[in-house]
Amino acid sequence: MKAIRFEQTGGPGVLSLVDVPTPQPGPGQILVRHQAIGINFIDTYHRTGLYPLRLPSGLGMEAAGVVEAVGEGVTRFAPGDLAAYASGPIGAYAEFHVVAAERAVKPPAGIDARTAAAALLKGMTAEFLLRRCYTLKPGDPILVHAAAGGVGQILVQWGKALGAEVIATVGSEDKAARAREHGADHVILYRDQDVAAEVRRITGGKGVPVAYDSVGKATFEATLASLAKRGLFVSFGNASGPPDPFAPARLLAAGSVYITRPTMGDYLLTTAELDESAAALFAVIASGKVKIEIGQTFPLAAAAKAHEALESRETVGASLLIP
Ligand SMILES: NC(=O)c1ccc[n+]([C@@H]2O[C@H](COP(=O)([O-])OP(=O)(O)OC[C@H]3O[C@@H](n4cnc5c(N)ncnc54)[C@H](OP(=O)(O)O)[C@@H]3O)[C@@H](O)[C@H]2O)c1
Repeated sequence: MKAIRFEQTGGPGVLSLVDVPTPQPGPGQILVRHQAIGINFIDTYHRTGLYPLRLPSGLGMEAAGVVEAVGEGVTRFAPGDLAAYASGPIGAYAEFHVVAAERAVKPPAGIDARTAAAALLKGMTAEFLLRRCYTLKPGDPILVHAAAGGVGQILVQWGKALGAEVIATVGSEDKAARAREHGADHVILYRDQDVAAEVRRITGGKGVPVAYDSVGKATFEATLASLAKRGLFVSFGNASGPPDPFAPARLLAAGSVYITRPTMGDYLLTTAELDESAAALFAVIASGKVKIEIGQTFPLAAAAKAHEALESRETVGASLLIP
């Protein structure tokens, strides 16, 4: 099969398409023939070495396609089923991949492979962020950075569906229009405007009870300054680099605020949690309240080009590789 591999960390140019043996499923595993592969920002952290992997390595954590074969003891899937996954082992940038049956889900009728691969990782992230990391209440103002991106678009729409007043930040006028289309109540151009001042103005000086920050280093100070007293800073990504270390006393100065640095895997510990999160996501998509925008697709062989687009802030919504 064809697969993307890299032997050293670095820029997108380290990714190359190679021929490797098609893997076979062991006990409890399924072999998935990919129809669509989800591209996620975390793939760039793996490629650059920010999140270290043992090299040489494959890349990618998310895909959807048809179950080609099942290993011993698998009852959750049968050959021919549609399957989607959003977890390790890393290596989704390939024509086939073997994953644990217990870590994959069956998208319901009406959700095709492309939608599943675009939605699962980003959507289950939005699910745990909005419903479990912080329990959103109707009327809560929330701050969502990078609101036109893959996770951001889902946070905006699902946040609105849960009754939040969504304050979105984006990097360009085009993306601002996108965020408004998805229901954002207020849009801040964070490269030009003073985010915290805008958030204070919008919230009558109070600030937000929760802020979702996936941008990291570039937005850390503005996010901290945007929180209401006892608010929650959810630092869940580093698109601009990891935030600098900070002294705990800064949380006091910001109004006895909290900070959490969550990752999706810790909110999908069991198969029951995975199934519940995926079911909630598929239900909110079926309701029409969350629309999954596939902003761009690339052939598998063009994975490097896809990474260049993602890292240069050219993409909107989700990006897919098509094998
Ligand atoms: N913790 C978790 O479990 C978890 C799970 C999934 C995703 N994430 C995180 O969520 C974030 C979004 O992931 P995604 O895959 O949906 O990506 P994405 O949001 O589609 O792309 C990243 C966006 O971040 C913004 N950005 C701001 N500064 C940037 C910079 N210096 N370089 C590149 N982009 C910058 C850009 O939007 P603008 O042009 O509007 O600024 C860009 O489009 C990532 O940080 C990812 O690591 C975390």
